[in-house]
Amino acid sequence: MLTPIFDKVSPRPFLKWAGGKSQLIQQYLPYFPKSFKTYYEPFLGGGAIFFHLLPAQAVLTDINLELINTYRCLRDNVEELIALLEVHQMNHSQDYYYKVRSLIDGTEIEKAARVIYLNKTCFNGLYRENLQGQFNVPIGRYKNPKICSSALLYSVSAVLQSAQIEVRPFEAVLEFAKTPNNFVYFDPPYYPLSQTSNFTAYSRNAFSEHDQIRLRDIVGELAHRNVKVMLSNSDSPFIRQLYRDFNIYTISATRSINSKASNRGKISEILVTTYKN
Ligand SMILES: C[S@@+](CC[C@H](N)C(=O)[O-])C[C@H]1O[C@@H](n2cnc3c(N)ncnc32)[C@H](O)[C@@H]1O
Repeated sequence: MLTPIFDKVSPRPFLKWAGGKSQLIQQYLPYFPKSFKTYYEPFLGGGAIFFHLLPAQAVLTDINLELINTYRCLRDNVEELIALLEVHQMNHSQDYYYKVRSLIDGTEIEKAARVIYLNKTCFNGLYRENLQGQFNVPIGRYKNPKICSSALLYSVSAVLQSAQIEVRPFEAVLEFAKTPNNFVYFDPPYYPLSQTSNFTAYSRNAFSEHDQIRLRDIVGELAHRNVKVMLSNSDSPFIRQLYRDFNIYTISATRSINSKASNRGKISEILVTTYKN
């Protein structure tokens, strides 16, 4: 791939994603394993931990088809993607946003460009689908949103070159991470602290208590294989009970507990590891 001459930028998440981990990395630093072979991230989202670790070998998966298609296009076809984003940048307006949001068909690159365009211009940078699987977030209030950061997209594309990127439910990690000394980081949709905070329940891919239990069983199986596992979740009695056989650390996070900015505050979350450094 020919990389044009730009000011070099470090790779970092190129999408805003609910539950993004960029703010927590400093607190996670003491807990990352000192060494590992392949890195697996089964709830990829914005990929903050991948972009921090920049492992030589990675398997990145998520159940969200649009998200994974975007990563794959960025890896395989960054120039064409940037060209389409420049068109979106030029045409951006309220009418244009809703026109693009209503589109369903298109090539994989066109869909990837739409995901990035809508993510940069929608309200709060959220990805949310209605029960029919259509992206349904209204336009955000940005004066001049930067839709296409070519330097960043090139640097992300470069670090994705050696990654395997697939649409998979989290259980598939058992097929991938089979040998000792690999590292899996799980960042599932969090177990809700209260009924009202459970916004994941309204999307198509609601993550139930049953899913949390299956995930814990998978963590157990990976630990049994001597794969190193780290997992983030909410600080709730249910989650502490689920992971009582592993190491549990308390992390301090700033999170909006509901959509009102006035309700942003410090809450604790937990980090689980199956190993000690
Ligand atoms: C909390 S986000 C991950 C955030 C990410 N660590 C970051 O820094 O942006 C959870 C992700 O899990 C994915 N997901 C939800 N249910 C899943 C499932 N059953 N299997 C795999 N991925 C799933 C969602 O599509 C979402 O991208």
